[in-house]
Amino acid sequence: MTAASLAGLRILVSAGPTYEDIDPARFLGNRSSGKMGFAIAAEAAQRGAEVVLVAGPVHLPDPANVRRVNVRSAAQMHAAVLAGLPCDVYIGAAAVADFTPRSCSPGKIKKQPGQDTLVLELVQTRDILAEVAAHPQRPRLVVGFAAETDNVAGYARGKLQRKQLDLICANQVGVAGCGFESDDNALLVIDAHTERALGPAPKGALAGQLLDLIAERLL
Ligand code: C5P
Repeated sequence: MTAASLAGLRILVSAGPTYEDIDPARFLGNRSSGKMGFAIAAEAAQRGAEVVLVAGPVHLPDPANVRRVNVRSAAQMHAAVLAGLPCDVYIGAAAVADFTPRSCSPGKIKKQPGQDTLVLELVQTRDILAEVAAHPQRPRLVVGFAAETDNVAGYARGKLQRKQLDLICANQVGVAGCGFESDDNALLVIDAHTERALGPAPKGALAGQLLDLIAERLL
């Protein structure tokens, strides 16, 4: 089977972690490598789509024929993604921080003599995916990711409904050979009616299979 062409479609992808600054030297981050989102962006561009990739801090080269917008924090990713609308498809593959420090200390936080604990106050970030799905310029297809350690399908299905998504790609983290830093992955792609298991496979091959499912729904 030849890969479905995506020519004429505008696809917005977010990828990688976000870094939430605590002070000039420290931040809260996560283990997302960005590889899955970059593979999706590369494959979509190769199939003729016009692709914008909003990338958190990762060490990955620019995929060919993709417009890359680099960001650091969840707030910056929120602004860059919303600036990328309108589009036909939004794929939120980034691991966006759910919480960020209420304020970033202007100077490096010093430990005080006898200090055993440090309390950081965190506030919730805005949910980019849910906002895109509820936006007046809602893309035709909104696709989320859910990294879970347990009850993978159950939690993902809850997010599909709560965030009003068309598709959610669930993957188990914390198992060897899959997920965050790995070159391979396995996804359970869930919509309102069906569940499809993709992989385990290299992230590039998986990106192609996911884009086939997306194309089926659009073309
Ligand atoms: O709720 P949870 O963070 O597990 O959902 C994961 C999905 O939601 C991913 O697609 C992620 O990109 C998106 N997300 C977001 N903005 C947030 C938190 C998560 O877009 N603040």
